Amino acid sequence: MLRYEKNPQVKFMVLLGEVGGTLELKVAEAIKEGKITKPVIAWCIGTISKHFGGEVQFGHAGAKAGAETETADAKNEILRQAGAYVPKSFNELPELIRGVYEELHAKGVITEIEEPEVPPIPEDFAKAVKAGKVRRPTNFICTISDDRGEEATYCGVPISEVVEKEYSIADVIGLLWFKKRFPEWASKFIDMVIKVVADHGPAVSGAHNTKVTARAGKDLMSSIVTGILTIGPRFGGAIDGAAKYFKMAKEKGMSPDEFVAYMKNVEKIPIPGIGHRIKSTKNPDKRVELLKNFAKENFPNTELLNYALEVEKVTTSKKENLILNVDGTIGVLLVDMFRALGYKNEEIDELINAGAFNAFFVLGRTIGFIGHYLDEKRLDMPLYRHPTDDILYDVKRPGGA
Ligand code: ACO
Ligand code: LMR
Repeated sequence: MLRYEKNPQVKFMVLLGEVGGTLELKVAEAIKEGKITKPVIAWCIGTISKHFGGEVQFGHAGAKAGAETETADAKNEILRQAGAYVPKSFNELPELIRGVYEELHAKGVITEIEEPEVPPIPEDFAKAVKAGKVRRPTNFICTISDDRGEEATYCGVPISEVVEKEYSIADVIGLLWFKKRFPEWASKFIDMVIKVVADHGPAVSGAHNTKVTARAGKDLMSSIVTGILTIGPRFGGAIDGAAKYFKMAKEKGMSPDEFVAYMKNVEKIPIPGIGHRIKSTKNPDKRVELLKNFAKENFPNTELLNYALEVEKVTTSKKENLILNVDGTIGVLLVDMFRALGYKNEEIDELINAGAFNAFFVLGRTIGFIGHYLDEKRLDMPLYRHPTDDILYDVKRPGGA
């Protein structure tokens, strides 16, 4: 209180004392001695103690009067006599504080000050989370599946339903890659894509690498990864490129001749989806035939396929192996499929740019890579040896594709 006395910003003081101890008496003395000159409003609580028969020990601090002068009433009286403002009861304390304030205000001791803005007290984080008012910043967002319920769901469909209603692998791809349940014709097409790209013998780039890696003693993961890493614009990964360029050419209204010239002179790259090292007009690719026939029978529209076949006429007239290959056929048919499913142009472009079309080859061919890896592991087990193991492959074939 002596420090407050010295602080010019303090205009008066409020002392809340209690029963027991003598510190309040020291304040009374300081007032009397003129060490405290500012108004002191004082109240010692515990005046109730006189209504009890014996000694009373108070509250949390166990305060009790050790002598008559330590009772609340005595201390209040001493403070009053010393010149402090002491109310008649605790209930009057607020009014007394107001009175002293107003008196000092009237005298100009206390001047109006602008009330500072009360700083808001931040809410307790744990409670706010519980009440669902806040959440931590999102690190990862998932919109395809959810494992928070009793069982995981694929795009809202519980796994039990996927099993019980006999969803195909293609249906699961629909849910997890594109967040929709495809109609039967589209699911069947996707299923067919996965089946036909699953393998194409041991000589193609990816299978070859898988076998080499397995033979070098590496494990399954390492071996199939080398195969997957081989998938690219010349082998298996031309699906996105084919979709992109054929779609662009068709949209721009290029004639097949113009398109072939454009790719040669402007883009200066082989047309993705055209050409095959061993397949040609004379030795057609059965897979391509199967895909085309399925699409013609089941797709509502095969506009881009039809365009690509016109382009094929131009390229094969130059060289018979410049056929619309399996990547090209899948690429243009996926565009036709997504169009028929109601996807907008930009949405299809987004899928292509994200690499979603190549993903079909990656997934399908991984089945084959695993097969080649296991095949290598079985070489010492004659029981499982298949007669075709002895076929010799022309090792020159793996190249671009
Ligand atoms: N567009 C235009 N011209 C082509 C294309 C093409 N896609 N492919 C080859 N040519 C031309 C070449 O310019 C070359 O012409 P030139 O003799 O006048 O120089 C000739 O055809 C031979 O070219 P190569 O690269 O030797 O063709 P190859 O038959 O060895 O390669 C390959 C086949 C790798 C598939 C090639 O055609 C190509 O790169 N195609 C585009 C990529 C592609 O679609 N890959 C996927 C194949 S299917 C799969 O992997 C599952
Ligand atoms: C494949 O499916 O891997 C092939 O079309 C590539 C090839 O060289 O035959």
